[in-house]
Amino acid sequence: MSFKYAALLVATVFAAPAFAEGDAGKGEKTFKKCKSCHMIKNGDDVIFKGGKTGPNLYGVMGRVAGAEEGFKYGKSLVEAGEKGLVWDAETFAAYTADPKAFLKEYLDDGAAKSKMSYRLKKGAEDVAAYLESVVAE
Ligand code: HEC
Repeated sequence: MSFKYAALLVATVFAAPAFAEGDAGKGEKTFKKCKSCHMIKNGDDVIFKGGKTGPNLYGVMGRVAGAEEGFKYGKSLVEAGEKGLVWDAETFAAYTADPKAFLKEYLDDGAAKSKMSYRLKKGAEDVAAYLESVVAE
């Protein structure tokens, strides 16, 4: 391997964070579509005011699905979490595009149900980046 190629490879690897394509600023705007059901709240610190129909999405990226304490999730999402579903850029985008279809496929169960009926048509990677960006170090 030539030096030039090796350097390029290293640069490529380090230039590829988890949400390379997400724009947190755009994601914050897109989150308005989620706020009727979701808030983002770290303890008493409200980062994005929203409803309680869905779970608090603070720290959801990197977390096991269906694991926000005190929220009554549907059975299928909890089951997916137990089977190892963790929210990353890819699973988050697939889920928010069509929660029910995603759970059916993930669980390989045609009867899987989702309590979230909303479908996000585009911008999931931005919302994912935004959700990551608000988490306190
Ligand atoms: C109409 C209400 C509603 C809207 C709008 C909505 N959601 Fe949800 N969301 C829910 C509910 C209810 C659940 C719990 C699903 C279940 O238990 O099956 C959920 C679950 C989730 C989860 C899984 C959380 C976890 O702890 O595992 C993610 C991620 C999520 N929503 C993201 C979003 C995003 C991003 C948007 C906006 C683009 C959005 N939702 C819009 C109601 C909604």
